[in-house]
Amino acid sequence: MPKIPYIALAVIIVGLVVVVSILYIGFLRGTSTHVEGASNGKLIYTKGIDSAGVRISYTGGPVGMMRYTGCIGCHGATGEGGIYPMMCNVKTPDIRYTSLVASGYNDTTITRAITLGIDESGEQLDPCMPRWQMSLMDLKDLISYLKELG
Ligand code: HEC
Repeated sequence: MPKIPYIALAVIIVGLVVVVSILYIGFLRGTSTHVEGASNGKLIYTKGIDSAGVRISYTGGPVGMMRYTGCIGCHGATGEGGIYPMMCNVKTPDIRYTSLVASGYNDTTITRAITLGIDESGEQLDPCMPRWQMSLMDLKDLISYLKELG
């Protein structure tokens, strides 16, 4: 057997090991940074960004709304609302879970309010409330965080 093929074989094996390690490291980084549950919901609420680093997009909301705000900017750190957001004519409601349930919401209608801007009785919410686009997992985590708020 000539020497060259052995060297070529070795080069191929080393190359494969390198490629597989790079893919594996990428896989580990992709899985370890994404946390789920209320802590992901908190990031969305406070920063408008989820634990995987995805910026939560929206349509509507007040003219000139800061691109980088979560729910906190209008509903406050405790979720109690009572704020008149800039360029809006309406006061923000209390969106702590127990308050929403007390006014007739359930998880499905809360999701609908966040994504489609429709309230528990089927009415359109004021355009000041942005319509948010996020994954079902993010919505679930966000609602878990609203439960933690109260
Ligand atoms: C720019 C300000 C603003 C931001 C940011 C905002 N909201 Fe709102 N939200 C409002 C306003 C104003 C209302 C009330 C609209 C009305 O009375 O018709 C509202 C209403 C709601 C309601 C309906 C409550 C009810 O009693 O009918 C829910 C649920 C809600 N917001 C959740 C959220 C969540 C979750 C986020 C973050 C993903 C968020 N909002 C971000 C302004 C905002």
